[in-house]
Amino acid sequence: MCDSESILKTASGATAQEPVIFNRDEISSFVSSFLRRRDIFLQASRQYGSPLYLVEESVLLERARQFTEVFYQALPDVRVYYAMKSNNHHLIVKTLVNAGLNLDVSSGLELQIALDSGAADIVFSGPGKTEKELTLAVENGDRTTVLIDSFGELELLQRIAAKKDTSIRAGVRLTTDINGLWRKFGIPLKDLSQFLDAAKHSNHVLIHGLQFHTSWNLDPYNQVDFIARLGNTLSKLTCEQRSIIEFIDIGGGFWPSQGEWVQSSNTAESHFSSAIKTSSTVTACHYKRHSTTIEEFARQIAKAVRTHLFPYVSCRICAEPGRWLCNDAMHLLLTVLDKKAKDLVITDAGTNAIGWERFETDYFPVINLSRPETIEHECYILGSLCTPHDVWGYSYWGKDIQPGDVLMIPTQGAYTYSLRQEFIKPLPAVVMLEKKCLRELD
Ligand SMILES: Cc1ncc(COP(=O)(O)O)c(C=O)c1O
Repeated sequence: MCDSESILKTASGATAQEPVIFNRDEISSFVSSFLRRRDIFLQASRQYGSPLYLVEESVLLERARQFTEVFYQALPDVRVYYAMKSNNHHLIVKTLVNAGLNLDVSSGLELQIALDSGAADIVFSGPGKTEKELTLAVENGDRTTVLIDSFGELELLQRIAAKKDTSIRAGVRLTTDINGLWRKFGIPLKDLSQFLDAAKHSNHVLIHGLQFHTSWNLDPYNQVDFIARLGNTLSKLTCEQRSIIEFIDIGGGFWPSQGEWVQSSNTAESHFSSAIKTSSTVTACHYKRHSTTIEEFARQIAKAVRTHLFPYVSCRICAEPGRWLCNDAMHLLLTVLDKKAKDLVITDAGTNAIGWERFETDYFPVINLSRPETIEHECYILGSLCTPHDVWGYSYWGKDIQPGDVLMIPTQGAYTYSLRQEFIKPLPAVVMLEKKCLRELD
């Protein structure tokens, strides 16, 4: 082995959470589960045109049922808020509200959609809320709890509520990492006592809880770790300070149980390789980072809550899942427009439909619904935008691929639709599959 290769291997082995090679049989059975229902997907494409976002209502409802049931069983008093930023289509939001979920919003725009959806309980979190956004929250204080992000925001909210001669229910967000970019969220744990004292003098803002959020959790380690640190801080508060805490919101960040699927370019080996400037190309191998089941998330979080929080406060636990609920409920359907080489096709959809260069690093099977077969072939599947970074994948599952073929990229519900952008090409229409019937959504 040459020097740079052995450095790469050592560094790669030393890297935590390095993905493992994704078992081909597992991908194949995932692909088969969609091929079994290819008729309905092909019908959607015929009836409503291409490209399309296809929402499966039953999947969305099933995820909502699973998540709530698991957490309701793990803890005595739980409330679940769907994080709208993960997919803000108003009918997805409404479907979840009708299923009994509450909403987590991060802007005035999202708050308005949440209010229009009929949600009875909305938490509004995020940094840099404007006066206009906070005014909307105060005007709808019967349904909105503001999760305050800073001392300055506490003052602003107090002024707005005082001007309207009313009061608003609120909580305070705690930062989970006092270093780096996550500092922008919330206040440090060390300032909690001072914040609660300041809030005591803000008679129009009624603090009732605490919130934190950690992201991209393949397992509950970060949530459990912060719960332990929070418990330590609670132990040092006065009884009076603790007595106002009616809820602790543990945020979202639950990764779906199928794990994180990545291209070879998203492995430590590939990162190191580019760092030491050897060539690195995407290979036919796919990789997977394992994630924990939602039952295990709930079990470990509940254990941490009982150990570290309940000795000091007896309160409701709130959760704000986004990705976990909507990821599997939306798929993309596109059509091959041009075959420019044996191993390069151009599709009608561009990645403006998902808003970022996701598939340069993430892997999802591109399924050829028109020529079904559970065999994967190497082929560049590219979009029709005038940028080389318009990539759907480097392979497809099927017998062959030709112009006119309908392709499916399943389980694209989270952080794609809500990041879509008007860029060069029009955006796909949205179709909902409800009880085996297709319906175009506006
Ligand atoms: C405050 C807050 N809550 C919840 C979520 C939802 O996270 P996820 O979709 O990973 O569950 C986010 C995502 O950024 C967030 O910022």
